[in-house]
Amino acid sequence: MSQQFVGINGEQTGLGFTNRDQGAKVEEDQGLIDFQIITNNGNHDKMKMLIDLKNIFARQLPKMPKEYIVRLVFDRNHESMCIIKDDTKVIGGICYRKYPTQRFAEIAFLAITANLQVKGYGTRLMNKFKEHIQKQDVEYLLTYADNYAIGYFRKQGFYQEIKMNPDRWKGFIKDYDGGTLMECYVHPSIDYGNISDLIREQKQLMIDIIKKLTLNDRVYPGIENQNYKVESSNGDRPAVKPESVQGIMESGWTIEDYNELKKQKEKTFMISCQQIIDTMRKHKSAWPFLEPVNKDDVPDYYDVITDPIDIKTIEKKLQNNQYTSKDLFIKDVKRIFTNCRNYNQPDTIYYKCANELERTIDDYLKKLKDESQIPGVSKKIKKTNNK
Ligand code: COA
Repeated sequence: MSQQFVGINGEQTGLGFTNRDQGAKVEEDQGLIDFQIITNNGNHDKMKMLIDLKNIFARQLPKMPKEYIVRLVFDRNHESMCIIKDDTKVIGGICYRKYPTQRFAEIAFLAITANLQVKGYGTRLMNKFKEHIQKQDVEYLLTYADNYAIGYFRKQGFYQEIKMNPDRWKGFIKDYDGGTLMECYVHPSIDYGNISDLIREQKQLMIDIIKKLTLNDRVYPGIENQNYKVESSNGDRPAVKPESVQGIMESGWTIEDYNELKKQKEKTFMISCQQIIDTMRKHKSAWPFLEPVNKDDVPDYYDVITDPIDIKTIEKKLQNNQYTSKDLFIKDVKRIFTNCRNYNQPDTIYYKCANELERTIDDYLKKLKDESQIPGVSKKIKKTNNK
C-alpha cells in the first residue's frame, strides 16, 4: 500500500492532480496560510521573511552554494513568493526573476520546509505563482531542475522540450550544468488559483457525457450459480444463452454477430488442422502412418491396437466435422505415435519414424492448443477471408 501524507486539514497528495493542492487551498481559504510577494525593499519584517526563506532554500538545496542563494534572494531583480503560516512563519517559497521584455520568468529556487513537504503546499505555491505571474503578462516559466525535482516539476506542467524561441531566452539566463532545463507555458485564460476545481468539473462533465453515450454505468444482478449449466465439456459453447443475460442485448450484442464469429473460429480451426495434416503427410517419416494398417499385411495388429488411427482417417474425420474441439483432434494425432510405439519395438524403423514425426508435429499441436493458430496459417486464413 502506498504511504499517504496527511496535513492538518486532512489534505494529502498521491490522489492525482485533481486533489493535489486541495488541502493547502482549504487552509488558504480559512486564512491559515497566505501567499506574499516579497522583495528586498528594506522593510524590516519583509527582510526577516526573506532571511527565513533563504534558510529554507539553503537547507533544502544543500548542493547550492549558500552565497549564491543569498545573492539571488536579496538581489533587487529577483522576487520571492513566500508561503506564510499564522501570519509570520515562512514555510516555503519560490524565488524568481522576471524578464518582462521577453515575457518569461526564471525560477531560481523553490522549496518547502522539510516537515511539510508532500502535503500539497508545493503544488499550491506553484498554482498561486502562475496566477500571479499570469497577471504580469508572463507567458513562459523556465527553470533548471535537478534530478530530484524533475518529477515534481513534471506534475506542475513543466516539460523538458523547450517551445520558446531560443532568441527569446538564450543569453538572458545562465547555463547551469547540474540541472535539466524545463519549461512551462502559462495559459492566459486558465484560472490557476482554482485549477483543481476546474479540472474536477471538467472531469465530471466528461463522465456525465460518457454516461449519456454508453450504458457502462448500468449494473444488473449477476446470474445465479445454480442456473449456470455447462452445455459441453470443451467449454467452447456458451453455457448460458447470451440473450438471456440482462444487459447483453442493450450493449449491442446480436446472435448474428456471435454466429459469424463462431463460423470464423470454426473456419480457422479447420484450416489449422488441415495444415497440420498436410505437414505430417509431407514429412519424410510419415509413410508408415498415411493409411490404416492393412490387416492382411499385419494379421495381429488389430488384436493389439484396439483404437487404430492414421493420417487419412484423421483427414476424413476433419472433413466430416467430427472434431468438435481442438483436444479431440490433438488426441487423435498423438494416438498415431502411441499406437505405433505400443505395437513396435524401439529398434524398429516404425518406432523411429513415430518419434521423428512427433518431434516435428508437437510444436504445431502446442500452437494449436494455445491459440488455434499454427505457423504460416494466418496468411492462408486472410487469403480465404478476402476471397
Ligand atoms: N520528485 C518527484 N516527485 C515529487 C518530488 C520530488 N522531489 N517532490 C514532490 N513530488 C511529488 C509529490 O509526490 C506530489 O505528487 P503526488 O500528488 O502524485 O503524490 C507532487 O509532486 C506535488 O507534491 P507537493 O506536496 O505539492 O509538493 P511539496 O510540498 O513537497 O513541494 C518541493 C515540492 C520540490 C518544492 C519540495 O519537495 C522541496 O522543497 N524539495 C526540496 C527542494 C527542491 O528540490 N526544490 C526544487 C528545485 S529548486
